Amino acid sequence: MATLVTGGAGYIGAHVVRTLQERGERVVVVDAREPDPGRNRDAVVRRLDLLAPGSAEQLRTLIIDEGVEAVIHFAARKRVDESLARPVWYYEQNVGGLAAVLAALEGTAVERFVFSSSAAVYGSPEESFVTELSPTRPINPYGRTKLIGEWMLDDAVRAQSFSAVSLRYFNVAGAGWPDLGDPETLNLVTIVLDRIERGLPPVVFGDDFETPDGSGVRDYVHVVDLAHAHIAALDQAGEPGSHRVFNVGTGVGTSVFELLDMVADVTGRRFETEVIARRAGDPAAVVARTERITAELGWRAEHDLRSIIASAWEAHRHARDHGPSA
Ligand code: WQD
Repeated sequence: MATLVTGGAGYIGAHVVRTLQERGERVVVVDAREPDPGRNRDAVVRRLDLLAPGSAEQLRTLIIDEGVEAVIHFAARKRVDESLARPVWYYEQNVGGLAAVLAALEGTAVERFVFSSSAAVYGSPEESFVTELSPTRPINPYGRTKLIGEWMLDDAVRAQSFSAVSLRYFNVAGAGWPDLGDPETLNLVTIVLDRIERGLPPVVFGDDFETPDGSGVRDYVHVVDLAHAHIAALDQAGEPGSHRVFNVGTGVGTSVFELLDMVADVTGRRFETEVIARRAGDPAAVVARTERITAELGWRAEHDLRSIIASAWEAHRHARDHGPSA
């Protein structure tokens, strides 16, 4: 028995791979990137582009040969700005990639499937706190590809008789191991740490939102908690033919200014901040309601903002001193 993790070389995927391995499970990783032995040590790693001709057949062979019974699908593109510039390519990558993986499951023993969805499916919600029943109105191609992925799973679980869970991630940050930090500077936490390290002021995108201090409010969730949510989803897969959707957040909103205060406190660095105009498309506040995942999977976030920032900072310095994944 093994678990297949697509995109297992990525930031969140690598955390889930290592967490599964710590439980003594056999993990098979497929990733389009060059295998990185540091990030995925002790896993079977295959380089595979899900969009390449014949990928579904290759993946099916791998699943059968390795005795895979569960799949966690991370492999996808995740940049909102890029999705606006290259929407069709995003649909190809994210929707096409998922279709290839689901096609590969046909005729295999895979019974359980976990899909990386996103709070981006909610778009710019009218209510700051969102439940899984809040309207799904994504406002960019990235968010739409995730919602389409959920719809595809609704249909596929019924026809193919496996069970699926979609996890709608809120703002993921932090590191479970210093060598597994987020190597990209695409989200607030990594952007801020990178800037203060380089002696540059963090930039605040707008201080005129309808929030207590005027800056944007989000729900920051520790990547270790997120990894545990995947394990809970795998362990408590529903009936064959079921597809359940869960928010994965903390239920606590943090503003950009609050986060910057925590960064100053944790790092001991003093820095100026620069407030500029709002970024196009940014909602004022998006925070998860997490009752469903707690009730149905018994999961709740264990780590607070301090732990997120402290672990991200440790990983940031580790990458600076040792290279990204040494
Ligand atoms: C967080 C807050 C910004 C940078 C995006 C995607 C979402 C998900 C996660 C996934 C906002 C503010 C940011 C900066 C700032 N994608 N900000 N200065 O926009 O909530 O969510 O990433 O894979 O789908 O939409 O995350 O980290 O970009 O921003 O003030 O330099 O920080 O305005 O309030 P966001 P983010």
